[in-house]
Amino acid sequence: MDAEGKGMSLTELFRPRTTVDLSKRPRRLRGSAAMRDLVREHTVRISSLVQPLFVADEGQTKGEIPSMPGIYRYSVDAAASETRELQALGIRAVLLFGVPDFKDAVASSAHDPHGVVQRAIRAIKAAVPEMLVVADLCNCEYTDHGHCGILDERGDVDNDATLEVLGRTALSYAEAGVDVIAPSDMMDGRVAYLRATLDASGYPALPIMSYAVKFASAFYGPFREAVDSMPQFGDRRTYQMDPPNGREAVREALLDIDEGADIVMVKPAMAYLDLIRAVSEVSEVPVACYNVSGEYAMVKAAALNGWIDEERIVDELLVAFVRAGADIIITYFAKSHAQRHQR
Ligand code: PBG
Repeated sequence: MDAEGKGMSLTELFRPRTTVDLSKRPRRLRGSAAMRDLVREHTVRISSLVQPLFVADEGQTKGEIPSMPGIYRYSVDAAASETRELQALGIRAVLLFGVPDFKDAVASSAHDPHGVVQRAIRAIKAAVPEMLVVADLCNCEYTDHGHCGILDERGDVDNDATLEVLGRTALSYAEAGVDVIAPSDMMDGRVAYLRATLDASGYPALPIMSYAVKFASAFYGPFREAVDSMPQFGDRRTYQMDPPNGREAVREALLDIDEGADIVMVKPAMAYLDLIRAVSEVSEVPVACYNVSGEYAMVKAAALNGWIDEERIVDELLVAFVRAGADIIITYFAKSHAQRHQR
């Protein structure tokens, strides 16, 4: 036979060698727990996890969210004591979502200085000053039609009218003492608009974590049950991204960084690991990913049925987000993961 294998039959060409080359043995580094620990490439730091919290006005507090076992709507006081527990477990940040009593077409209760999120920010910062309080900034929990923006006479989301409301709400969160603003509405130009608004009002040091790459995803179903934000008509496809588009995701992230985002987020996480990787490769700022409600619900449902091992599944998922390039992980599993990994 010649060097290129010319003239050999396929069977000859692919015949296994009779002797295994024992110098190539990847299993050498898998032989014990200590060895596996020694060569482990990635770890999930508890301090990079963010726990989402639903804070509800009096009339809206209720027990567990049916599609999210272990997740609750808290009153303002209960949210503050929950935060104390999270702090004791080593969690450094919470992400607040409001469930208000009052909704109207223009999201008035979003920028009420005594609104539920504004009160929760004050209560949590008073109870646990070291906890980073991130506030999700969006209108969908506060509009009676359930859309993330203000609607024009045709029922379409009016981009610039929405920015104004977002700006007012961001300032009311800033005044309440929030540590990070996290716009999740997907309006065009909102990061630049919010940066300018905050800077002009004496908050140049307040960071913006942008939901830069946010898809119109079916994985948000349980969340919408949690906060009653299901659109009353239509869907969010005219402002959230189309799931098949990856190149556009990178472009959205770069746009937001250009507009002044301090952190960019990819959401959801499990079905978008490729985009966490792509964004982390080009981003000059930290990258967050959001392991969303539907992802939590799937794991919980299977675990409660005894079909999967929740603890191992969660460990595997969280480290996959880190391996993909996420610096920050927003996850409903933050608390239970921290509880299991306390030393
Ligand atoms: C608000 C918002 C949503 C989520 C975070 N912020 C819902 C949506 O866009 O419909 C989803 C979070 C989750 O599913 O856990 N716009």
